[in-house]
Amino acid sequence: MVEREGYTVEPVGERAVARVVPGPVCAFCEGTGRRTLEMRGVQRVGRCRCQKIPDRVILYNRAQIPARYAESTMATFRTDLPDARAGWTMCRNWLDRYRPGEENAGLILSGEPGRGKTHLLSAVLRELIFQHGVSCRFVEFTHLISSIKEGFDRKESEATTLTPLVRVPVLAVDELGKGRRTEFEVAVLDEIITRRYNARGTLLATTNYPLTRRAQPAAATLALPGLESLSERLGDRIFSRLKESNTMITVGGEDYRVTHAQRR
Ligand SMILES: Nc1ncnc2c1ncn2[C@@H]1O[C@H](COP(=O)(O)OP(=O)(O)OP(=O)(O)O)[C@@H](O)[C@H]1O
Ligand SMILES: [Mg+2]
Ligand SMILES: [Zn+2]
Repeated sequence: MVEREGYTVEPVGERAVARVVPGPVCAFCEGTGRRTLEMRGVQRVGRCRCQKIPDRVILYNRAQIPARYAESTMATFRTDLPDARAGWTMCRNWLDRYRPGEENAGLILSGEPGRGKTHLLSAVLRELIFQHGVSCRFVEFTHLISSIKEGFDRKESEATTLTPLVRVPVLAVDELGKGRRTEFEVAVLDEIITRRYNARGTLLATTNYPLTRRAQPAAATLALPGLESLSERLGDRIFSRLKESNTMITVGGEDYRVTHAQRR
């Protein structure tokens, strides 16, 4: 809830939903949202400045952020917990460097469960939308795969299945690499990553797979799933594109779900 900003965000069903906090009727456009502007003697009808928040509320609701993360902002992420500050700082710096309308390197957040990766991902989207008016889309990796599969099974065209995910300026993929890694999953991911890479779109992602292979205990075998790295998981072709066009960081700290479970 950020009423003083002119909007609120609350969980509604499965999604975080933003709403405009109604204010006094705009004195410039008398609530029509349209304003006549004069530029170099020419009159032009344009969108009134008072529509900025309503327009961004629409963008936020199109982004489809999960209900659980309705209150996940940069401000609500606690940096006083052990090892929690570094991940937050990297996201903060990334946001400060972001230039709307230009080519921006993406951000991949890797780490163990409960470190706040999806919180940070949702917070970064929220800021991109409300500070910069950028179109964003949040999608959980396994949902992305199943919705594309359903689209293909229904013989829908690529324009309705893949293209929106390729075209959106900022695509945020939660739980990248999760799933069974079928041929279909790898092919879909390759297609989206390659087309977005070629179109220079910005990718944001979280993953439980480590950026480098963890040190193995003496008795461990390569077959242990927890030891697989993101590059092994995704394959060299996809990983090399990701590496070139994204900043990859490890989010450390404790499992917030465990350390704060008693307080709920
Ligand atoms: N530093 C933090 N400050 C405030 N809340 C936090 C912090 N870290 C995590 N949380 C909260 O704890 C819960 C779990 O965090 P989150 O879902 O972001 O973890 P995750 O790293 O994505 O885990 P997983 O890998 O299992 O998906 C969320 O409700 C999140 O808002
Ligand atoms: Mg998560
Ligand atoms: Zn107005």
